[in-house]
Amino acid sequence: MKSENSFSMTVLSKSSNESFVRSVVSAFALSLDPTVEEISDIKTAVSEAVTNCIVHAYKDTIGKIYINCDIKDNVLTVKIRDRGIGIENIEQAMEPLFTTSDDERAGLGFAVMQSFMDSIRVRSVVGKGTTVTLKKHISVRYATKKQ
Ligand SMILES: Nc1ncnc2c1ncn2[C@@H]1O[C@H](COP(=O)(O)OP(=O)(O)OP(=O)(O)O)[C@@H](O)[C@H]1O
Ligand SMILES: [Mg+2]
Repeated sequence: MKSENSFSMTVLSKSSNESFVRSVVSAFALSLDPTVEEISDIKTAVSEAVTNCIVHAYKDTIGKIYINCDIKDNVLTVKIRDRGIGIENIEQAMEPLFTTSDDERAGLGFAVMQSFMDSIRVRSVVGKGTTVTLKKHISVRYATKKQ
């Protein structure tokens, strides 16, 4: 039987919650029996999305980050939403090396999310917030039969 599962959580945009959300999402994904590499990819992508909420969406403020996760047909979907400043030009924001940050940001967060997950969708309204939806298919693996 195909397993289905989901959870939602809301955290404040405190920097400590970046590792907290990353750990919770990766623990949730474990039921799909991912490889070590797949888990690491998920952690990295989630970490980038949550960090963006903390440093860009709620720059100089503390706001809520809404996480929705589900598993269906071996696909993990992670939706990370904020109600922060929003993104004016999504296409430009997603270009590698583009950053609006004046400190040492590389502008690679979206590129990393894109390369570590199967798909990424970004929706944003200036002044209202941003939603990033990440998807990753986890292949079913079977135990090797004894010879
Ligand atoms: N949740 C968000 N709310 C508002 N703006 C965002 C959000 N996420 C990304 N952005 C905008 O998109 C730009 C690109 O994001 P990206 O994660 O690719 O790079 P970065 O965060 O600037 O640098 P890095 O992730 O390498 O530290 C950001 O500089 C910011 O302007
Ligand atoms: Mg970033």
